[in-house]
Amino acid sequence: MREVQEQTVPAARPVFPAEDRERIAAMIVESLATGSLTLGPLTRRFEASVAARVGAPFAVAVSSGTAALEIVLRHVGVDGREVVVPANTFFATAAAVLHAGGTPRFADIDPQTLALSPESVEPALTKNTAAVVLVHIGGVVTPDVQRLRDLCDSRGIALLEDAAHAHGAGFDGKHAGTFGRAGTFSFYPTKVVASGEGGMIVTDDERLRDDAVVYRDQGKAGFLGGEHTRLGYAWRMSELHAAVGLTQWERLDEFVANRRRAAAIYDEMLAGTPGVTPLEVPRGCEPNYYKYVAMLDGVIDRDALKRELREGSGVSLSGEVYARPLHHEPVFAYLAQGPFPVAEDVCRRQICLPVHSDMTAAEARHVAESLAATVGRMLRDEPLRDRA
Ligand SMILES: Cc1ncc(COP(=O)(O)O)c(C=O)c1O
Repeated sequence: MREVQEQTVPAARPVFPAEDRERIAAMIVESLATGSLTLGPLTRRFEASVAARVGAPFAVAVSSGTAALEIVLRHVGVDGREVVVPANTFFATAAAVLHAGGTPRFADIDPQTLALSPESVEPALTKNTAAVVLVHIGGVVTPDVQRLRDLCDSRGIALLEDAAHAHGAGFDGKHAGTFGRAGTFSFYPTKVVASGEGGMIVTDDERLRDDAVVYRDQGKAGFLGGEHTRLGYAWRMSELHAAVGLTQWERLDEFVANRRRAAAIYDEMLAGTPGVTPLEVPRGCEPNYYKYVAMLDGVIDRDALKRELREGSGVSLSGEVYARPLHHEPVFAYLAQGPFPVAEDVCRRQICLPVHSDMTAAEARHVAESLAATVGRMLRDEPLRDRA
């Protein structure tokens, strides 16, 4: 456990204890010595470890979370068809649909879970819908996940899970990524488990697994040669990344437990604080607290709050999930339907408190105290006429 030496809390902090750094270095030395640099024994160990932990029969390691999404979308066959994605998600969820030849169709989100719901998805479905991508924003799996699966099944549509935020998260004992046809993870540096760059597909569908293995390696029918049977890409995971990811993955339970402890401190200290309302986690959800999301009172200027917290208390809030809905992104303007009032409101008013896998109780208390004090001051300073 780290001690707070100065009262500064960064927005994100990847955690690599000294013993892990040594293990990773030893694995990399071995890879260099043997010349096994990509898709080798470390990648296979990483895949086996993820499959075992999430309870999926198959896992396929790839170069990024975006690649993982594009591969499963290509397997499903979204080319020339529509894919429903939440208006509030990361750019890559929708971009992967376009790269796979499909058209994203945005849908609004539920204000409590920030996820798609059957009610928001239904109006976006057409005869041409191939898939729905459920995103577990902030590491919360919505209690609606089974109803979403039922809706998709009844229409012959694939339910896919973008579980980039959701390592170690689940609902009612079932791990994120195992509710639909396939789930995808990202190991980008800010994620709960990081490999530098990397991604993973989990599935119970053997054909999807076989296809993913072909897609990730230039669409080749076999690793050591063979015909190119798919329009694949250089989506392999290197052994060096696998060494990092595998070592981090073994810390998953410890990381999530620590994140939950920090979140419990936030829950307790922020309960009833004027101006800030943490999102309440619904029953049955087992969040990993990739993000701790709270909604600000509408009169509070988020940018000013972030600045005051950083300058006055040394606290950097973490990046929002997300600050701008995708239908407002210039690159997706030509696809913009809407309005999506919930997504727009959530994007405008949310903040994410910093949560680190090695966060101390003292750090969490410092964040909560600083936030409550700064918001209180901003509310007092707010001219009354602006509060109507
Ligand atoms: C929701 C979501 N989907 C997809 C991705 C893409 O993952 P990557 O950066 O590994 O390509 C990310 C994160 O970066 C993400 O947050």
